[in-house]
Amino acid sequence: SSNPSDKYDNLKAVKTPMLPPDSYKGKKVFVTGGGTGLGKAMTRMLSQLGAEVAIVSRSPDVLKSTSEEISGETGNPVHPIPANIRDPEAVKSSVDQFVEICGGLPDVVINNAAANFISPSERLSPNAWRTIVDVVLNGSMYATLEIGKRLIEQQKGANFLTISTPYAALGSPFVTPSGAAKSGLENVTRSLAVEWGRHGLRFNGIAPGAIYTKGAFSRLDPSGKFQKILTDSTPTGRIGEQEEIANLACFLCSDYASWFNGEIVMFDGGQTLQASGMFSSYLKLSKDQWDQAESMIRGTKGS
Ligand code: HXC
Repeated sequence: SSNPSDKYDNLKAVKTPMLPPDSYKGKKVFVTGGGTGLGKAMTRMLSQLGAEVAIVSRSPDVLKSTSEEISGETGNPVHPIPANIRDPEAVKSSVDQFVEICGGLPDVVINNAAANFISPSERLSPNAWRTIVDVVLNGSMYATLEIGKRLIEQQKGANFLTISTPYAALGSPFVTPSGAAKSGLENVTRSLAVEWGRHGLRFNGIAPGAIYTKGAFSRLDPSGKFQKILTDSTPTGRIGEQEEIANLACFLCSDYASWFNGEIVMFDGGQTLQASGMFSSYLKLSKDQWDQAESMIRGTKGS
């Protein structure tokens, strides 16, 4: 195969936790959308590192089975807290439950819950638009406000992490509600990094490129063909692995990253830069074609 990641060991995914064992011992973590996908992967690694994690999402059954699976593996508590984050009252109650179960406010908050599907925008109803913006932007903000106000009141520091997307910065066709909502969330992340720094609260984000999860790929790549296009258009020749974003999240939310504030880390193997590079299509040129091009360029006389 011609994929660089098949050839070069330094481009392969490392899946074990990077931080020392027990780095999160005594830390309480609130993860929205922690029952599945990237939220589950981050929950698993935090739990491996000793954290007490509460996972918050709509589906009690999914939360229950994920909690049992992960706490069974790690021996550390994972608490299921069912709540639809589109409902501010449910978010408030989830924070009440968190405090009751964990005995205090979180040290780390991961705003991971998302909703998305590809669709030509002319096919979107107002309710389709509202549904996605409600989960991604409003839901994350309800959790941030509910927890942030209480942290400030109690003068307790905490680290917040936003899970964004590479197209939040410049937009993308066919995902206008998600792009708008994630872009708004990045704006909030940077704003609160400044506004609430004096209260001991750090805010950062990760903009992950393609990492396989059923939730995302079933809605964004229904035919399965897009995965190959992404792989082929990534400089290192592969999509990401869930443990890789988990390692980055564990670092950014740890005290090793206490000088990280207001940063959204692009985490996509360079795919976004390759897509935006004006001459990226020249990566396909062979040595002969470059020899030919060079001699034509050198042969140019005058302007
Ligand atoms: C057009 C659609 C649609 C589609 C739903 N709708 N699917 N419109 N095309 N494919 C419309 C519905 O008709 C309805 O509008 C409105 O959206 C709400 O749909 P419901 O099914 O009633 O909502 P709900 O059951 O709450 O489901 C929410 C959902 C679903 C967003 C539609 O996909 C979901 O639960 N997703 C959660 C998981 C997820 O999406 N994960 C991916 C995240 S990936 P009307 O007008 O008919 O009432 C991500 C970043 C990706 O965020 C980055 C990749 C690199």
